[in-house]
Amino acid sequence: MSIMSNTILKLVNNTKTAKTLLVITDKSTDLDNMGLSKESIVQLRNAIKNKISPVHFQHGEKNIWIDYQEKEALTPSEKEIYRKSGLKLLSILNTHKIASCVLHNLTNQKDAAYLYGEGIVLGNYQFLKYKTGKNIQPNTFKELQLLDKDITKVDFTALQIVTEATIIARDLVNEPLSYLTAEQLSKEIQKLGKAAGFKVEVFNKAKIQSLKMGGLLSVNLGSKNPPTFNTLEYKPKIFKNKKPLILVGKGVVYDTGGLSLKPTENSMDKMKSDMAGAATVAAVMYAIAKAKLPVHVIALIPATENRPGENAYVPGDVIKMHNGLTVEVLNTDAEGRMILADALSYAQKYNPELVIDLATLTGSAQRAIGSEGIVYMGNADEKIKKALSESGYKTHERLVEFPMWEEYDEYIKSDIADLKNVGGALAGATTAGMFLKHFTNYPWLHLDIAGVAMLDKNDGYRLKNGTGVGVRLLFDFIKNRY
Ligand code: BES
Ligand code: ZN
Ligand code: ZN
Repeated sequence: MSIMSNTILKLVNNTKTAKTLLVITDKSTDLDNMGLSKESIVQLRNAIKNKISPVHFQHGEKNIWIDYQEKEALTPSEKEIYRKSGLKLLSILNTHKIASCVLHNLTNQKDAAYLYGEGIVLGNYQFLKYKTGKNIQPNTFKELQLLDKDITKVDFTALQIVTEATIIARDLVNEPLSYLTAEQLSKEIQKLGKAAGFKVEVFNKAKIQSLKMGGLLSVNLGSKNPPTFNTLEYKPKIFKNKKPLILVGKGVVYDTGGLSLKPTENSMDKMKSDMAGAATVAAVMYAIAKAKLPVHVIALIPATENRPGENAYVPGDVIKMHNGLTVEVLNTDAEGRMILADALSYAQKYNPELVIDLATLTGSAQRAIGSEGIVYMGNADEKIKKALSESGYKTHERLVEFPMWEEYDEYIKSDIADLKNVGGALAGATTAGMFLKHFTNYPWLHLDIAGVAMLDKNDGYRLKNGTGVGVRLLFDFIKNRY
């Protein structure tokens, strides 16, 4: 994993020695008492009037950029403005080949340093592992210093952890299949467990066979590389939930579609990202354990390639799943639900208080809301949905709820088995969710991240390629809940 991609965050107690200083201001800031010269203040006021921001000042050795914010007292969904402003400052720092700076918040917005920090650290991410020689061009910016009076110790640590975890998820998504097979993914998860302090158990193919996980085994049939089933558990001495919280992540390390080979041009290009749910879930476990949150969490990650090899499962096959239900496979490209179903059914033995699965499950979710958010559905109570949705607005990893009306169950009725794995052309994201529901018997939410897990162009600090979506969302949700 790339260490180079991580910007260092440091807490300092003054700005005296800083060669580069970034100052955040708004209407509440006393501009006259910032230690600027009379001319500089006039210049700054003019810039603000003309909406030019940030403004650069040179004071001897010191470079100062003053960033003026129009919006004070941000609503949760406006927090994104500050992250994006952080990104804008970052591009100035890298253009000027600056390596470190101190950020100073002079606004009343308490989380300004945190939000700018997220924008800067996440925006400074690079995946350089496979570059060589002169093609290795790391950004010059390396270290962001925050003032201890601008951010609490707890928030500073949370910022460090959550940005690091997001980058871990991005790294995993950006890894190609040539490195990241199911077995390698298990090794990466074990490394994370060691580093953060959670237990990892990896089931091999024989164990998966003994557990009769027919979905995972069938999807794996066309591949030379074996599947794995990973159980991650974080159980601190003191935790607030009587029953465990369970996270489930789709770990299809590559999706060719199988024999129902992905049909259209370029539709396979991004399919190394089909384990983004697994990456996020593993990274969230890392964050929870690092932050020592008082919560008992288990993560389940089924992992395999989906390939059309000689023994591959075929359309028409009937598969007996882990919970005994039979599934008629009518499209081998609807493989995510096959492996998730086994994991969701396996989750029942833990008697969980809540299960949240994350999966790059359907093109339908992507077509419905593009790359602007996550499609979700499930039977967890309204309070939980509201809390998750609020975390979504706060972290800008927004969610849209899709219906699970019982009529949709008709769409996935099979002539010869209990269920079929496709529901026809309409309501694809919903029918995938309806399919999964048959394998649950507990409060549950399904997050379809197909549209947001991997981007084909930069979108602010959510850079092109793996985004690590869901890490900040779930960390915030879990931190608030427990
Ligand atoms: N991994 C894909 C979904 C996907 C599509 C993720 C685009 C990211 C971007 C999934 O396994 C899939 O192929 N789904 C099919 C299901 C269909 C055959 C019922 C789809 O959505 O087309
Ligand atoms: Zn597929
Ligand atoms: Zn897939």
